[in-house]
Amino acid sequence: DNNEYKETCQKYTEILPSLPKENGWITKYVVKYQDTWLSPSVLQGVMLVQEHFIAQPTDILLASLPKSGTTWLKALIFTTINRKRFDFQTHPLLTSGPHACIPSLEALMLQNNQNSSLDLPSPRLFATHIPHHLLPVSLKSSGCRIVYVLRNPKDVFVSSWYHMKKLRLKELPPLSLEEGVDMYCKGVYHFGPYWDHVLGYWNASLESPNKVLILTYEDMKKDILTCVKSLAEFLGQPFSLEEERDGVVQEIIKLCSFDNLSNLEVNKTGVQQFTPKIAIENNVFFRKGEVGDWKNHLTDEMVERLAQISEMKFSGTTWLK
Ligand code: A3P
Repeated sequence: DNNEYKETCQKYTEILPSLPKENGWITKYVVKYQDTWLSPSVLQGVMLVQEHFIAQPTDILLASLPKSGTTWLKALIFTTINRKRFDFQTHPLLTSGPHACIPSLEALMLQNNQNSSLDLPSPRLFATHIPHHLLPVSLKSSGCRIVYVLRNPKDVFVSSWYHMKKLRLKELPPLSLEEGVDMYCKGVYHFGPYWDHVLGYWNASLESPNKVLILTYEDMKKDILTCVKSLAEFLGQPFSLEEERDGVVQEIIKLCSFDNLSNLEVNKTGVQQFTPKIAIENNVFFRKGEVGDWKNHLTDEMVERLAQISEMKFSGTTWLK
């Protein structure tokens, strides 16, 4: 209830000054809360999720680090789940940005001091950047499905560097690429460290493969057809032979493609209000949409530095170098 919400907000105000701090990407500083770097207002949202979100077994959660392919997956999950509900010619994604179609859980909790906004038709679709170890217990034990999208750490960095540059508070000095790499390597990244975030969901997926699906941005770029089919199957709504024959999968892929979405008026000029304080232009979520742009930005030294961390953190896993 409202009093309990207020207690969490009070707790947030109390602990905030005691948390380790570093210079931020967008905000003046970020704080370290339970091994995770967050901007202060986001921390409040995370605490509200931790203490007040009650998951339902039918919920579907899209989890990701910022800049890993969240926008693309929001569009794909929304369209796949609702494919019998909407017609492709008049589809909501043609007039609403992907971020309006699947709300971010931590933003939603901040926006609303009541759970009423969570009163959505089943299956409820949410997105989150919260690392696995910070998810509320009710969510982990509810058995709801989690789709996690991950992306090469070098491309996530470059994508972020551009993204944060646009959103960075005007009164702060610009952030150089070198400073950005330093921060990223130290783990100071929104919801980071990058490596811990990825490993958390990776391990959860090893433990419960039918509850946590891992998709990579790179695989999606290479073979989106296979990815969308496994997504639908994982979500319990596999494509029928008839749907495949009628080209439904192709329609979904086309609708959610970078070229299509980034050229829609809503994504060129529209603005998404995430919380009462945070509004972001939709166009910021569409830049190049390619794999390997890091090659155009990072020096050999930077690449080596990142590779060493990946080597160390991901040793024992068979992927992502
Ligand atoms: P780049 O900056 O490398 O272009 P997120 O959605 O997690 O914030 O990630 C944004 C990244 O995904 C950006 O990468 C953006 O261009 C890319 N992106 C957005 N929509 C996409 C789509 N429909 N298909 C492929 N990539 C997309």
